[in-house]
Amino acid sequence: MQKSWYKEMSVYQVWPRSFCDGDGDGIGDLKGVLSKLDYIKSLGVDAIWFSPLYKSPQKDYGYDIADYRSIQPEYGTMEDFKLVLDEAHKRGLKVIMDLVINHTSDQHEWFKKSIEEPDSKYHNYYHWYKGKGKRRPNNWMSTFAGPAWEYNEKLDEYYLHLFAVEQPDLNMDNPEVREEVKDIMRFWLDMGVDGFREDVITFISKKEGLPSSPYWFPVATGIEKYMHGPHLDEYLLEFKNDVLSKYDCMTVGEAPMMTTKNALKHITEGPNQHLNMMFHFEHMAADCLFYSWFKTKFSLKRLKKVFSRWQKDLYGKAWNALYLENHDQPRVINRYGSTKYRVESAKMLAVTYICQCGTPFIYQGQEIGMLNYPFTDIEQYTDVSTKNNYDVAKAIMGPDRALKLANYASRDNARTVVQWNTEKNAGFTTADEPWFMVNPNYKEINVEAAEKDPDSILNFYRALLKFRKENEVVIYGDYKEHYKRSKDLYVYERNYEGKRLLVINSFTENAVNFKAPEGFDLSKGKCVLTNYKDPKVSGNAFTTKPYETRVYLFE
Ligand code: GLC
Repeated sequence: MQKSWYKEMSVYQVWPRSFCDGDGDGIGDLKGVLSKLDYIKSLGVDAIWFSPLYKSPQKDYGYDIADYRSIQPEYGTMEDFKLVLDEAHKRGLKVIMDLVINHTSDQHEWFKKSIEEPDSKYHNYYHWYKGKGKRRPNNWMSTFAGPAWEYNEKLDEYYLHLFAVEQPDLNMDNPEVREEVKDIMRFWLDMGVDGFREDVITFISKKEGLPSSPYWFPVATGIEKYMHGPHLDEYLLEFKNDVLSKYDCMTVGEAPMMTTKNALKHITEGPNQHLNMMFHFEHMAADCLFYSWFKTKFSLKRLKKVFSRWQKDLYGKAWNALYLENHDQPRVINRYGSTKYRVESAKMLAVTYICQCGTPFIYQGQEIGMLNYPFTDIEQYTDVSTKNNYDVAKAIMGPDRALKLANYASRDNARTVVQWNTEKNAGFTTADEPWFMVNPNYKEINVEAAEKDPDSILNFYRALLKFRKENEVVIYGDYKEHYKRSKDLYVYERNYEGKRLLVINSFTENAVNFKAPEGFDLSKGKCVLTNYKDPKVSGNAFTTKPYETRVYLFE
């Protein structure tokens, strides 16, 4: 397996609106980021991925871009961005931008012109279609619920939007649109950014003629016609050959519904590789069907199966992107861990994924164990997909159960402001009111408190990332799972150039008897990471404590 900087790095994700407010208007911004660069560096990460910073009406908090070449005024100016970029680089931190090219904002000049000047080239930048009589062009539904088509009276045509109404899909089959995309990439790469996280990149190619789906789902009907579309390979290769390959940069593509088999078509190393890695979603469905709004009971077996499949199928061929949280996922402790054993389970979950083979991504607040917000009213939510999904859920199960579901599933759980200290608004802003909620648990859960506590989740992340950096077995080692049938324990080993790692994770508060798998003598290994003091072993075995994790290194 070829070594590379993007394989060895770990990445911190900043969702700018809620990260840190530097100018006192209640909204996170670049000045705030600048003031926290030393903090980010102190985690031991090597890169920052910024969720969109571009000019945007914020209907989907930046994933609706009105101008790809300017900064959202609430966040600062282009000069502010260049300063952040420069200061990040000075600290040895790479900067990864979010590239959202499946759609634009309806306030983008291209879209406005596509309506105002229907004979101009911009009309064909989007998917404008005539209706079928009084019906929409096809039966597709938006990922955010509701039809995927919006009618425009002036043109007597509909446009496609796979996400919010204000996010019209670009027509990537139009070569002019692809040229625009390449120019945008060059603009940022020439400025010095180090790569892109490519938003829903696997949706950019739609099946010719946009045929209706024979299936019906409450959301995203038609997804099989575009989730891995006919020209995806071609377009990704074009972006790579014409632009990306000319820079020392990395790419990670967001890929809903992705399987290892399809992923390998894009990320297998070699001349035909399209992207360096992909964010798949399969491991985020251990407590739901496909996504968190179709909630089921958490199943460790389901989670392990997915982890192991991705580890095994990609090893030696392609590279994994590892994550448990981001701005679209509720907090993972609430889902796969335990709020009762918050500290223990947060550390265990960190080990579970960061000790796998791949590049780990850590979402803001995850490193201090932030939790879901205790929402009590649907009016408190601000996310467009939450509101739409709630309406669908309410029609099926009534308002009370729909609200309970929203509390569990909403992306807004990840979007409350970062809790820095015990001061007003958790130290996020000096304004009277931050733009969005502060979790009432901030007096207990905040960065300042975590800094002071040597046993905090924060300091555990630091130790874990340091260990990964100093031990190639964590980065490049192979992977083998043990105790596959256990519903409580997740155990795997990693091997690299004579070094071995045994990673033991308990997903329960109950005591479980663990015996080392054959070939491992725990007394000969060193327990390098654990969430309890004095890990004891007796007879090559031990009984687990609640959510215990232990990592043994054998040299
Ligand atoms: C991706 C983003 C998400 C956004 C959607 C539409 O899934 O991560 O936040 O709403 O794409 O751009």
